[in-house]
Amino acid sequence: MCGIVGYVGQEQAAPILLDGLKRLEYRGYDSAGVAIYSEKYQKLQVEKAKGRLQVLSDMIRGGEDLDGMVGIGHTRWATHGAPSDVNAHPQVSRSGKIAVVHNGIIENYAELKAFLIEQGVPFTSQTDTEVVAQLIEYFYETDQVDILEAVGRVLRRIEGAYALGILCADKPDQLIAVRKDSPLILGYGKGCSFLASDVTAIIKYTREVGYMDDDELAVLTKDGIQCYNHLMQPIEKEISHVDWEIDAAEKGGYEHFMFKEIMEQPEALRRCIFPRIREGEVYFEDFGLTEEEIRHLKKIYIVACGSSYHVGVVGKYNLERLTRIPVEVALASEFRYMSPIVDERTLVVVISQSGETLDTMAALREAKRLGGRILSIVNVVGSSIARESDQVLYTWAGPEIAVATTKAYSTQMAVVDLLALYFARILGTVEESEYHAVLDEMLLLPGKMEAILSNKDDIQYFASQYFNHDSVFFIGRNVDYALGLEGSLKLKEISYIHSEAYASGELKHGTISLIEDGTLVVALGTYGKLFDKAMANVVEVRSRGADVLALTTENRREDMEKNANAVITIPETHDMLLPSLGVVPLQLFAYYVALMRGCDIDKPRNLAKSVTVE
Ligand code: G6P
Repeated sequence: MCGIVGYVGQEQAAPILLDGLKRLEYRGYDSAGVAIYSEKYQKLQVEKAKGRLQVLSDMIRGGEDLDGMVGIGHTRWATHGAPSDVNAHPQVSRSGKIAVVHNGIIENYAELKAFLIEQGVPFTSQTDTEVVAQLIEYFYETDQVDILEAVGRVLRRIEGAYALGILCADKPDQLIAVRKDSPLILGYGKGCSFLASDVTAIIKYTREVGYMDDDELAVLTKDGIQCYNHLMQPIEKEISHVDWEIDAAEKGGYEHFMFKEIMEQPEALRRCIFPRIREGEVYFEDFGLTEEEIRHLKKIYIVACGSSYHVGVVGKYNLERLTRIPVEVALASEFRYMSPIVDERTLVVVISQSGETLDTMAALREAKRLGGRILSIVNVVGSSIARESDQVLYTWAGPEIAVATTKAYSTQMAVVDLLALYFARILGTVEESEYHAVLDEMLLLPGKMEAILSNKDDIQYFASQYFNHDSVFFIGRNVDYALGLEGSLKLKEISYIHSEAYASGELKHGTISLIEDGTLVVALGTYGKLFDKAMANVVEVRSRGADVLALTTENRREDMEKNANAVITIPETHDMLLPSLGVVPLQLFAYYVALMRGCDIDKPRNLAKSVTVE
């Protein structure tokens, strides 16, 4: 949440900052701002605007209006203080000398603010971030220390999560970066340096990046970056090379990132699955758990948020089915408050696209504290969750920009399925024939997905029939229920239609009272073993007036058509893999419905892709 970018170099900073912010808009988009040190005026120039980045960009003519070769920028997802020009970042100290951009929350800001007000410091915004800018200046002026020391003193007093970019007019050749529990990366360019919330913001300028760790501070100049630990001792930062192409983070002719990412799924799956199947066996390079450790496991916990949690719900069915190890799935935001039973024989599988979700991170730390073994499934290489886990399996989906996840979900699911097979093979809990049947089908998934995508016009047609409903129910059993959770989330998050997913068997326990003439029910009936029951539920809701859009496999189309109003099909596959295919039409359905309703698909209201606050 909130995107930060900083540049110090030999070119005009403002256009570079705006370009970086454009790529970070998925992190927040209620207001944006930049602070540049202007050589002409010999002071900081700060420009901020409520609304999308474009408003700011138009205001400063794409950055042209601001001279200066050092600056910081921010795109905001409001926490403290409503979205407004004043609350937008950068926040500046009272003299205008110190500007700060921040991602995270300063938990003790009220107490610090009260102290500063007592000292006569006036505040202009409602943000927690202004406290940081004012407090730096307070120490800088009152204690007459240099800017680094002033920042150090502030760090010893603030509590909470933060990634900070700091610019001081008295040191116009440098930027200061600090991080604790919020992501921040450093970019090493030729004659320039960068800081950013994530790689996408700076990939156009450099591929050499360093990942800041908690409690580290960095000083960036055009000639290089010096990092320090919490004791302000200089440290060497490992530089990593980012090898994906810039196109991966661009729309490439598509109207929306979400659509592009839906269409990229077959390729993402190939990248994720193919290298992990060798000679008919699942293969994980450098897998940290030994066979003995796997045999020793007595429980698996899956912990995640949002769509990643939904992958966990499917994962539970598949892992338990194949490994016979009990699997518990927990929402990361609940995990640490529910006395979880975790010990050294528990494997905690943490799933996260961004690798930065604060609740997921907190759950990971709690699980670690309790002695659990942490295996994470993460998309963003070098992210905090990846780095704090005992073992990481990357999804290799490539950068995902749209707030609503698609290709990350599909690849996460593939990794969980591979993991289930890998464990089951070692534990001897899967029949040889089933093991190979699933693996063979996994190799066919990308092609089958392509077939679904090539029929996207059908889904667009169904969307045109149903886009004006204002309430939708997704129903299904077993993996179809798990799939419904994701289908329903996709629809509601981007189209703003009220939507809920239910296990079909629960209908009679309350929900059916909501079904009336014309209510849209999306009935998921891909799971062959329970097809008759799915059908019975279709009949039940239809007889109460529901309009039923059903999803099933190709060979059951005719049966389903007897009762549903409309039917979408997916190719046959192994039971375990049905959600991997089934999710694609549901993503497309959500996309087209949102498109027809004129919604801002890539940036749905109130949401952010990377949720770095609790
Ligand atoms: C946000 C995103 C979701 C995502 C969830 C968890 O809510 O909009 O798409 O599933 O965070 O994020 P993570 O990066 O941990 O998978």
